[in-house]
Amino acid sequence: MIKIRQHLEKDIPYRVKWLGNSNVNKFIGDELGQKTNLQKEKMWFSNYKKTKNKKFFTICDNSKPIGLIGLSNISKSNKNADLFIIIGEDDYRGKGIGKIAMKWIIDYGFIKQKLHKINLGVIKDNISAIKLYKSLGFIIEGEMKDEIFYKGKFYDFLSMAIFNRNKNKDKK
Ligand SMILES: CC(C)(COP(=O)(O)OP(=O)(O)OC[C@H]1O[C@@H](n2cnc3c(N)ncnc32)[C@H](O)[C@@H]1OP(=O)(O)O)[C@@H](O)C(=O)NCCC(=O)NCCS
Repeated sequence: MIKIRQHLEKDIPYRVKWLGNSNVNKFIGDELGQKTNLQKEKMWFSNYKKTKNKKFFTICDNSKPIGLIGLSNISKSNKNADLFIIIGEDDYRGKGIGKIAMKWIIDYGFIKQKLHKINLGVIKDNISAIKLYKSLGFIIEGEMKDEIFYKGKFYDFLSMAIFNRNKNKDKK
């Protein structure tokens, strides 16, 4: 059973494993394929604990951590945020778990955080991710040509967003 809980200090070694996994990091980060280590992730976590506009969660198969999902740059004034997701364990991708976790974080963003809009960025070659985002109602807002350079090739980058269309949302 898929469970989503707070992202905790004990998850730091999983961050190192997942963010260092080439099946994952070929699609994420400012520079694709970037490596990480325990020290960098401990630093990330200690900054995370001090940051109010970031909310991260660990995706678990029962008690086994398998991925990470979260919102960054949560803006109370603009009512928007940036979404990030990885299914870090290779055996768990392509099984519908990303979709479950995405639905959960969208509800969290729109209901708990009272957001109007959730943004994300994705490499145009990340076919399964884009398919997933579109199936949930994300639209493409922009396309940056040759934005990312990785292993001798340029990649296009898409800005996608989903809007909270609940008409009653601003009445509360
Ligand atoms: C992108 C990611 C989060 C999606 O999570 P997931 O659990 O693998 O995705 P799901 O199983 O929920 O599938 C989502 C959709 O993509 C489709 N899909 C899954 N794997 C696919 C593949 N290899 N090729 C084409 N489509 C695929 C599924 O059919 C599903 O569509 P459907 O709902 O119409 O059936 C996950 O694959 C991942 O972490 N990838 C590496 C890191 C990454 O790319 N993160 C996102 C950065 S923007």
